[in-house]
Order: sequence, then structure tokens, then C-alpha cells
Amino acid sequence: MWRVKSLDAILATAQKKSLHRSLGAFQLTLLGVGAIIGTGIFVLTAAASQKAGPGMMLSFVIAGAVCAVAALCYSELAAMAPVSGSAYTYTYAVMGELLAWMVGWALILEYAVAAGAVSVGWSGYVMGLIENALGFDWPDALQAGPAWSMNGFIPSPDFSAGIINVPAIVVAMAVTFLLMRGTTESARLNAILVVIKVAALTAFIVLTLPVIKSQNFTPFAPNGLFGEYSGMGIVGAAASIFFAYVGFDAVSTAAEETKNPQRNVPIGLIGSLGICTIFYLLVAIGAVGAIGAQPVLGADGSAVQPGSPAFIAACQLAENANQLVCSNEALAHVLREINWPIVGNALGTAAMLALPSVILMMIYGQTRIFFVMARDGLLPEAFSKVHPKWKTPHIVTLFTGMAVATAGALFPVGQLADISNSGTLFAFFMVSIAVLMLRVKEPNRHRPFRTPLIWIIAPLSAAGCAFLFWNLPHDAKMVLPIWGGIGLVVYLLYGYRKSHVGRGLVEVPELHPDAPPGPVPPMPGAPSPTDKRED
Ligand code: ALA
Repeated sequence: MWRVKSLDAILATAQKKSLHRSLGAFQLTLLGVGAIIGTGIFVLTAAASQKAGPGMMLSFVIAGAVCAVAALCYSELAAMAPVSGSAYTYTYAVMGELLAWMVGWALILEYAVAAGAVSVGWSGYVMGLIENALGFDWPDALQAGPAWSMNGFIPSPDFSAGIINVPAIVVAMAVTFLLMRGTTESARLNAILVVIKVAALTAFIVLTLPVIKSQNFTPFAPNGLFGEYSGMGIVGAAASIFFAYVGFDAVSTAAEETKNPQRNVPIGLIGSLGICTIFYLLVAIGAVGAIGAQPVLGADGSAVQPGSPAFIAACQLAENANQLVCSNEALAHVLREINWPIVGNALGTAAMLALPSVILMMIYGQTRIFFVMARDGLLPEAFSKVHPKWKTPHIVTLFTGMAVATAGALFPVGQLADISNSGTLFAFFMVSIAVLMLRVKEPNRHRPFRTPLIWIIAPLSAAGCAFLFWNLPHDAKMVLPIWGGIGLVVYLLYGYRKSHVGRGLVEVPELHPDAPPGPVPPMPGAPSPTDKRED
């Protein structure tokens, strides 16, 4: 189970069955921005404020800094091995099959659960629009899932916020059917959606910065740096808002479809992260400064987790109705509060249009990881079965979509984001270790991009990921070991025996006769055959 798939074998696979290399640095950066900007900034700004108060601006800085060092580590590996599968593939090459499997298994949390979180975020914006623009009141029970708390080891639901999130199911299944039918976004559509999102955030910044009031920044950190319990305070908010930056690694999964990947992948990774960080900081300052961001308190005056039953009860009080922390559509709410209701609705419309593309990227990323794992024999070949007419892995896409819809239907957005973060932080941690180990094991291998100051940056990245993980809410932290335990059993029962590397099949066997020409279908956002190519 410590067997590795050598980097040379991975590269040979990629060369033999490579996809058309058509993405340039600019398109890759757009792809990254398209995958990054989503529910995190549009919705979770409210949850972060509940945890940290105005100090959530610092939370954005902390989470962004951890992502920046992680992105530098990703860049070295992605430039060296520009193949699909990102963290899973790198771990396979460096630390062996078992840990690679665990990373792949954790990436299910990252991608599928994140898609669920973004579906719930979309639902909040659509419901807000329906209420504010059309004046229609959709029943509460059908617009939010229950809030969950752990009763010992038994999860117990609280239905005061709602029973089932119908809009989240609708959007998750709609995106799933689009993907099953092979409707990949063209590069142009991706670019348009990125422009819409960036325009919405720009309008927000332009309208909020001039009305900032200094008193809205005090008290700056009502819950302190660490809060009374895990998951609260400025650092707890950083662990949650980390979700807003997730997605930049999608750039590295497109490495196999990139022209001159050694140069363009690091530019795409670091460029998209840099652009989003600047926007996020300005939006956070604008939101706090314009209307304030103080947490609501529980009935006994204590700090309460966003999404918890006590929090929902506090938000149902009339005096808290207009608080930022209670809004399901944080940014639109701020604009309405500062008397820009039409722009607020326009921003809501922008979120409604653009968030599904983030869901699409996440579900697609998930099927891609499954695909690569099935290609290595660690998952059944059915996972890479391709529909004869649509030429898509329809079974695994439907399976993923149904899991995403279920998560979106039954959980609040903050809890899903925290669970997703636990898997992502584990994957980023492993990448930071892998990049260091490879420097030691293969110091002479050609590295087109070298992480600067690697002996400082990579340990910082690993420590930063561990630190954020430790500061997630207790329930979200528990999910990773439980999920990992299930994964270990699945591996021992299946992958351990079926692994292609284990069976000496280093070369990739031909997939199903109906398989598409490449090892994985092309990335959404990649130019379609009808788009003008630069090469
Ligand atoms: N970063 C993505 C979002 O915030 C996952 O929706």
C-alpha cells in the first residue's frame, strides 16, 4: 500500500493520452477566478461576521495567506506533472497509494460537499430575489434544510429554519443534467460569467466604500482571536472563510489541457488567487464599514455558532431582522440597507446567474477525480463508463449530482462549507509535504517552476492548513476522521487488490471502447472546438 506510481509513468500516461492543449495563461486565470468567486464571498461573509464581528476582515487575510503559500506549493508540482487529478496524483507519485487514496477520498469532501454548499448559497439568493423583487413568499419549510448539532455521536436535526431546501435540489440536479448531456461551458461563456461576478463585486465596492462609518468597526473583535470554543473568533472565521478561496486548485486540474503548462499553470494559480484576494478584502471592508457586522447573541447572552438552533432563534427576533449576520444573501442585503435596492437585486441576479458555474466546476472536478482513480484501478471501472451518445461519464455524474443535491437539501450552507474545508485542508497539507519530499527524493528532476524559499514556504503551508483545520467547528473536524475511516475500509476491500500499479499494470489499459479520446473529457471552460484557438 506504500507503492508509488512513478512520476515518469504518470507523465508517460499524460503524453500518450493527452488532451488537446489549448488553454493559455489568461484563460487559465479566468478559469480560476470562475471557480473561486462564489458562495464564500456572496453568502458566507455573514457567517464569518457572526464568528468574528468586524475582525472578519482579518480572517480573509489569514485564509488568503494560507492559500497563497499552498498555491506556491501546488504550482511546483503542477508545473512538473501537468496531469489530471492534482493532489491525488502528486501524492501517488511521492507518498504512495494508500495516502493518495486518502487524499482522493478527502477530495470528495472538497468537491461534492462544496457543490452542495454553493447550491444552498444559490438558493438563499434566489429566495431573496423572489421575495424582494417579486414580493412572493415561498414557505420557509421548503427553502432551508434543518440545523444539525451532535448529541454525543448522534446527529440531531432542528427544523426551526426549515425542513428541506427545494431550490438547492433544483439547481444541483439541473447542473448535473447539463453535465450528463455533455454541455460544457465554452471559454466565452465562462469569461462572461466571470465578468458578471467581478462587475457585481466592483459595484458593491464602489457603493459601499464611500459610506463607511468608523463606528461600525467597533468593537472590532467581539469574540476575540480564538473565541470561547472551537470555530469562533477571528481564527475560527478564517477556517470557515477559507471556503471562499477554494477552487484555485481547479487550475492545476486543467494542467493537462494547458499550452506551455510549466509557465502558464503557476501564473493561472497565483494570478487567480491574487485577483480574488484583492476583491475579497475590499468587499469585506465595504460590508463591515457600511452597515456593521456585530454578532447576534444567544438567549443567555452567549456567542452562538452561525446556523445553530440558538443562532436561528436569535435571528428570528424582530430587533435582529436587519443584521448582516442573519442574512442569507449578505452582499445584496448590504446594498438594500444603504438604499440601493435595485442594485442589490441586480447583484442578487448576478449571483443567481453565476453561482451555478461554480457548482458545475465542483461537480465536474469530482467526476474527474473519480475518473482518474478508476483509471488507476482504485475504483470500479463503472466510474469511468462513458455514455455512447453523450460521451460523458453519465453514471458517475448522476451519482455525484444526487449526493450533492441531498447535501444541499438537508444541511445549512455554513456547515457544508466547514465540512468541505476539512477535506480541502487535508489535501493542501499533503501537497505541501509532497513538494518537500520530492525535493529530497529527486533533487535533480527538472523543475520548470520552483517554489521560492521552499524550506520556509512549504512548512508554513502545512502548518497553516493544520492550524485552520484545528480551528474548524468541532463537528466539522470530526467528519474527516470518520470519513477517512470509511475510506480506509473501502480501500482495503477494493483498491488494495485491484490497483493497476499493484497488479503491475503501470501503463494505462485502454478504457471502455466508447471512451472519449482523452483520459478525461475536456474541462468546462476550455475552448470548445468551435472557439477560435490561439495555437
Ligand atoms: N470558492 C468557492 C465559493 O466560494 C467554492 O463558492
